[in-house]
This record gives sequence, C-alpha cells and structure tokens, in this order.
Amino acid sequence: LCAFVAPAEAQTYPTRGITMIVPFAAGGPTDVISRIVTSHMAQTLGQSIIIENVVGAGGTTATTRAARATNDGYTLITGHMGTHAASVPLYPKLAYHPEKDFEPIALLAGTPILILARKDFPPKDLKEFVAYVKANSEKLNAAHAGIGSVSHVSCELLHSILDIKPVGVPFNGTGPAMNALVAGQVDYMCDQIVNAVPQINAGTIKAYAIATPERNPSLPNVPTTAEAGLPAFQAQAWNAMFAPKGTSPAIIASLNAAAIKALDDETVKKRLLELGSVIPAPKDRTPEALAALVKSEIAKWSPVLKPAS
Ligand code: MLT
Repeated sequence: LCAFVAPAEAQTYPTRGITMIVPFAAGGPTDVISRIVTSHMAQTLGQSIIIENVVGAGGTTATTRAARATNDGYTLITGHMGTHAASVPLYPKLAYHPEKDFEPIALLAGTPILILARKDFPPKDLKEFVAYVKANSEKLNAAHAGIGSVSHVSCELLHSILDIKPVGVPFNGTGPAMNALVAGQVDYMCDQIVNAVPQINAGTIKAYAIATPERNPSLPNVPTTAEAGLPAFQAQAWNAMFAPKGTSPAIIASLNAAAIKALDDETVKKRLLELGSVIPAPKDRTPEALAALVKSEIAKWSPVLKPAS
C-alpha cells in the first residue's frame, strides 16, 4: 500500500507573515495589483502578507534583493515585464537572472499601455501628438519609472517608432511619476492602464491612445493606437509573482492555488477589471505558463533593447 505523504512544510506553511516585495513606489501599478491580489491570498493562507516597497534602478534593486532572499516562502516579489524580461538586455551586469534565480508562482494581470500627457499638453489627438513630439522632442520631458521599467521600455519603443530622443525623467515608480504628470511637471508618459484609469476618469490627465488591438472596457472612449493613426505602437505589460529559486514545489503550489483563488474571487476580479487589467485565462495561471512567458519575453526584448549608456 502506498500512501501519499505531503511534505511537512506544505502541511504547515505558512506559519507566519509573508513579505511581498514590490519593486516600485506605493500607489503605482505593481503596488496596486499586488495589494488587490495579496489581500485575498492572505485570507486563503491564514497569514498576513506585508507589502514592502523597495525602490531603485527600474525595479532591479528590489529584484536583486528578492533573488538573494531565503527561499523559504516568506519573501516573495511581484515582478513584471521590466524586472523579469527587459532588464536582461538593458543591464549587462544584472545581479540576477529572471529564469535562473526565481521560481515562477503565477501571472496576476495583463496591463495594456497608454500614451498619456499632462492635461494642458497642446496636441488634441494622437496624430497631433506625433507631429508635436517630433517637432519639439528636445524640449520635452517623458516621465518613467527608471531604466528597464515598463514605462521606460514602452516609451523607448514609441520613441524608436517616431525616431525621437526626448529627455527621460526617472521616478521611483509611475505612482510618483503620475503625480508629476497631474501637477504638470512632466509632459507625457507611457504607463500601464491600472495607474491611468482613475486619473483619466477624473480628467486630471490626457489619454491619446491605448496600445492594444482592442479598446479597453474601462476606458471605452480612448481609441486604440491603430484607430488613432499609429498602428505600429503595440504594448501590453504583465505583472506576476515569483519566489527565490529553490523554494519548495509544495510552497509554490500553495501560493499558486491562493493566487488563482484570488483571481477567481468576484471582488478581486471586479477591482482588477475596473482598473483595466486583463485577467489571465486559466491556462496562463500555472507556474509553467509563467516560466514560458518569462522566457519568451526575454527573447522578444533582447534584440530590441540596448544596454543603457
Ligand atoms: C513601471 O513603469 O515599470 C511601473 O509602472 C512601475 C510601478 O509600478 O510604479
């Protein structure tokens, strides 16, 4: 007779609070998505999940810290398209490798990118925006969340399509960058939708277009880049949960199950959808699917992005 005996740690984990590192400032997309999902996961797991915002170097400072953390399931990180893909070609001396130093847990959300500007930025629509930034690129400030962040990489893509080099203004996250945009201290930004929806709806910033093939239900009046005349600019980011390499499969399985339960919860779903996120389909929620996404995203960005000088 062969009885299945679960490892002792899986039967007891977690016995204390978990730290979730967020590699950007509070109030930005990574922070908001992490808080929505982990507040539900904490109920499932029966322990608190404390968010620790660790900022710097486009999220790579925090990601290095997470890679070096003890792999006991008590220190995790919410990473994204920047920290776990674009950072590889941008930082030749990156102190971690997204595939070799992490165990994928679960994809949390897809986040379409929008072209946003301060409320009084002169162009009326995307066609005027393109003409204006081409004519004035040396005078303009584009905010981002540090080299390798999603906002940086997305606007780099936009700038390469437009063949311009405006001045980039780095912040510790697009939470603070958004505050600067609302205050009119910077001109424009390419940001993930979750950070933009509340401000667009409040009329505190301008949205020129969403860089996805379809409009987003949370912003039905914002045209796609294709509709607005710039079909070449397509960008959607993603946010996902990771543990340091070597974290036990049983712990990864408990965390994945708790993350999936959160994504299926009506309140969590409603909140993520209100903010424009794309909720991962069931087939995309496994650790294996996230591993495949990280691999394909590194392969996608590596030929496109050059190391920061
Ligand atoms: C980014 O641009 O990578 C993010 O928006 C960072 C953040 O969560 O603030």
